[in-house]
Amino acid sequence: MTTLAHYLNTPTIDPALSDVITTITDVGKTISQLLRKGALADILGEAGNQNVQGEDQKKLDVLANDLLLDALAQNAHCAGVASEELDHATPANADGSLLVLFDPLDGSSNIDINMAVGTIFSILPYQRQGQVSTDSDFLQAGNQQLAAGYLLYGTSTMLALTVADTVVMFSLDPDSGDYVLIEEAVQIDADTSEYAINGSNYRYWRAPMQQYIDELIDGHTGVRGRDFNTRWVAAMVGDVHRILCRGGLFTYPFDTKDIKKPGKLRLMYEANPMSLLIERAGGSATDAVNRILDIEPTDIHQRVPVVLGSKNEVEYVKNLHVQHANA
Ligand code: AHG
Ligand code: MN
Ligand code: MN
Repeated sequence: MTTLAHYLNTPTIDPALSDVITTITDVGKTISQLLRKGALADILGEAGNQNVQGEDQKKLDVLANDLLLDALAQNAHCAGVASEELDHATPANADGSLLVLFDPLDGSSNIDINMAVGTIFSILPYQRQGQVSTDSDFLQAGNQQLAAGYLLYGTSTMLALTVADTVVMFSLDPDSGDYVLIEEAVQIDADTSEYAINGSNYRYWRAPMQQYIDELIDGHTGVRGRDFNTRWVAAMVGDVHRILCRGGLFTYPFDTKDIKKPGKLRLMYEANPMSLLIERAGGSATDAVNRILDIEPTDIHQRVPVVLGSKNEVEYVKNLHVQHANA
């Protein structure tokens, strides 16, 4: 049996990185326990305020954010923290070598209905050790990430992590409190017949995305020549987990629903960490044209269209966009 502590204690992984991952995953155990108590812990419902992006915060969004922030502020290797729930990055220990970004609670709308939610994290190098970190230190492309992962609080709590070339998966043993390795090298099939999208936004999509979904719905009667199945968890963390387990395509595409939001998902703490996991597991991640991991960020909260998952299916979507652009 390999625990997370064993896995991280190897000469090939920077001890600072191991330490920060341990801090995050330890907080994950606390969040997991709170979720298990649910209504009994008085953690459900609205916090009564909005985050910088104008979204209503749930009590648990705020709680998970504060738990992670407090724990990371005390970690000597962490030079700064950026979160979905914080307007600006918070400096931590100037001598630290790492920056941490997180979505403390992904899938907030699932909390009150007892469905899966998660925590997503991304770890970047800190280039100005010894000086106080600011927002601009975080503005690094996803291809610079030293590690990324998520905790999924589902029927069991799982951790997907990439800190080397591979993606590993752990399951939290509620008896021992240890994360136990269950998958050493996650791989995604190149082909799939399963896709995830919020279809209610159809009228706001661009023509190639509308065409793509039309083709999938046509199934064996259309150009694709086979049937497809929809699955939508309403928490990216759940949809990405399904894709790491059995393949599939997930997209939150560009839409014109709110002109200020060209895509709903945030590049730095949703799209980038998930894209690193997906690519390391053999899949692809694009904004429909460009590789997500190569996007140079200009704002820690910027949004990006996302298409990720099984390689050939992502390629198919990308080709439709290229064809439309050239038509
Ligand atoms: P968050 O709860 O962190 O704001 O993120 C929710 C995101 C993502 O997890 C999910 O795929 C998407 O929002 C679902 O949104 P809609 O239900 O509006 O489609
Ligand atoms: Mn989220
Ligand atoms: Mn969130």
